[in-house]
Amino acid sequence: MRDDLLPVLACPVCAEPLGRVDGGQVGCAAGHRFDEAKQGHLTLLPAKRRALTADTPEMVDARLRFLGHGHYAPVERALAAVVASVDAPGVVLDVGSGPGTYLAHVLTADSVPDWAHAAGPGATRQRRAGRAGGERLGVALDLSAIAIRRAARAHERAGAVVGDVTERLPVVDGAAAVVLDVFAPRNQTEYARVLHPDGVLAVVTPRTGHLAELAEATISVDPEKERRLHDSLTPAFVLRSSEDLTWTMNLSAEDVHDVVHMGPSHHHVDPDTVFAPATVTAAVTVSTWSPA
Ligand SMILES: C[S@@+](CC[C@H](N)C(=O)[O-])C[C@H]1O[C@@H](n2cnc3c(N)ncnc32)[C@H](O)[C@@H]1O
Ligand SMILES: [Zn+2]
Repeated sequence: MRDDLLPVLACPVCAEPLGRVDGGQVGCAAGHRFDEAKQGHLTLLPAKRRALTADTPEMVDARLRFLGHGHYAPVERALAAVVASVDAPGVVLDVGSGPGTYLAHVLTADSVPDWAHAAGPGATRQRRAGRAGGERLGVALDLSAIAIRRAARAHERAGAVVGDVTERLPVVDGAAAVVLDVFAPRNQTEYARVLHPDGVLAVVTPRTGHLAELAEATISVDPEKERRLHDSLTPAFVLRSSEDLTWTMNLSAEDVHDVVHMGPSHHHVDPDTVFAPATVTAAVTVSTWSPA
């Protein structure tokens, strides 16, 4: 874990900020200590628990392959545009990050361009006015240790934490400029607490028609999803923008296998099912929300 990310992280026992303590360990002022995994991530869960809802290794591998082929690039571009539009100081916190693909993309897109470095530190500062100074840092958080091991090496400016979105998040108050929630569970109270007052929550949800051609093998989208999204984020947030993205994906047989196995349908489909190549619709909503 990068040292400059530790003050952003909070002890899951007492909520105090973390830092380096004697012997290079990570801990808080109250004496709670956390071991860094050899991959570099931290586990900041309030108590020992079984990660019942967490993704399995097969699901994480399928997700990495599928997203690595760029099939969800419109989502990556939309999220990069949101991050670029936010002036609040703080990190990008990707909750339910999986292997951190989206976090890595937005951090790369947010890099200071070479010309700004060449023009000297003054030019860089001007471009970054109102920001944390320098380049944005990121934190990936997921309940799946397997996913977080991958996220730990997703980007040099990102740290990775095993944490539970249904609990108090191991992040200090107001430390996030942006919270990303892409196809992941939500926690409005905690998102409002960890966001800077000028920060933005960006949420990606599937719409009716998403992966419609694979309806037999995937779990259908709840038609009430929009209302449930609204209910899950109010009263702590107000809607700032909402954009429907629809595109067509030409998927190989392996891609179809991966898109079926990277999500919850993995638990319902026969592992030996053989898939054929298919042209498949993607339909998602990217919404942004401000703390109320
Ligand atoms: C559909 S995946 C989306 C992953 C990633 N955002 C992406 O789109 O590539 C949902 C993620 O939520 C994580 N998750 C499920 N329950 C969670 C919880 N209680 N706390 C944190 N993460 C959780 C899963 O492990 C999984 O990585
Ligand atoms: Zn503590």
